[in-house]
Amino acid sequence: MGATEPQWVLMATGRSPTNIAVIKYWGKRDEALILPVNDSISVTLDPDHLSATTTVAASPAFPSDRMWLNGKEISLSGGRFQSCLREIRKRARDVDNEKKGIKIKKEDWEKLHVHIASYNNFPTAAGLASSAAGLACLVFTLGKLMNVNEDYGELSSICRQGSGSACRSIYGGFVKWCMGKNDDGSDSMAVQLVNESHWDDLVIIIAVVSSKQKETSSTGGMRDTVETSPLLQYRAQTVVPSRILKMEDAIKNRDFESFARLTCADSNQFHAVCLDTSPPIFYMNDTSHRIISLVEKWNHSEGTPQVAYTFDAGPNAVLIARNRKTATLLLQRLLYTFPPQENDLDSYMLGDKSILSDAGL
Ligand code: DP6
Repeated sequence: MGATEPQWVLMATGRSPTNIAVIKYWGKRDEALILPVNDSISVTLDPDHLSATTTVAASPAFPSDRMWLNGKEISLSGGRFQSCLREIRKRARDVDNEKKGIKIKKEDWEKLHVHIASYNNFPTAAGLASSAAGLACLVFTLGKLMNVNEDYGELSSICRQGSGSACRSIYGGFVKWCMGKNDDGSDSMAVQLVNESHWDDLVIIIAVVSSKQKETSSTGGMRDTVETSPLLQYRAQTVVPSRILKMEDAIKNRDFESFARLTCADSNQFHAVCLDTSPPIFYMNDTSHRIISLVEKWNHSEGTPQVAYTFDAGPNAVLIARNRKTATLLLQRLLYTFPPQENDLDSYMLGDKSILSDAGL
């Protein structure tokens, strides 16, 4: 790879969907390794609706590692990007690309720099788990470029070091992030509970209440919660372990009633823990509360849940309908309660196909 050798560029592209937690991850026991205080369970969305697409390129002509997010250059100096790059480089193998006439020895990857370009097809940092899709895609695509041969569990553990929730985006369907017991994080990784065809009646609708960047990042927010909330210990040690077992059963048996009750209860407890933080964190707003009310009243009047709601670190509602018929009714009710208003995008945005996500489960 001397200066006299011909220059070349080797590229790989990947796409990763985002995931929405139905039992939330909130709080780390190790900040550097990103080890959580409890297990969590999520559902991975259809990549056509909410996903990150990343192209990575390596060339001897690149003097440094660089990254662009949605066309804007961002710094790669953060420890998390560096951890992912380091872990993937460690596992890189020989590449022999006959078509392009490129041969790279595994030890060369230590010296080769990469350029990374990533795009989200949905608002970044608006509480729609953009970091999950982005980091999972980065790890997956770098792994492809560097001919890494690790299994998905190992890759998920590398994604985790980029952003906790990213470790669950490596699989489709319903996924559990096992918190693990080891101090080095070697057993903290995601496993697939069921694949995307297991529960294909479900329809997921995302009501974008606001696409503004959230004021409190998940990372900062959960750090404050760990330091100040007495409720968090109770949640992590007493509530979540039994909830995880019940949720696994509900998913296995496609028991929508239990699934919906557990999903709503866990979202509400996560936001209660945010409120229990000092200073308190408010991710939901009045519109979010009105959506909760609408769903609660509807579920109550039917006598059995029709729709589950869950909110991440932002005001946007993720609504999971038990089937297509219910999803149609839900959309009608949302449109009736929140008629779309021109020039009032923050109060409600509906009709833009990017915000309606059918998980296609
Ligand atoms: C509310 O994964 O974004 O979406 O690990 O610090 O990068 P870091 O946090 P992040 O937190 C996601 C929190 C959540 C719940 C969840 O996805 O489980």
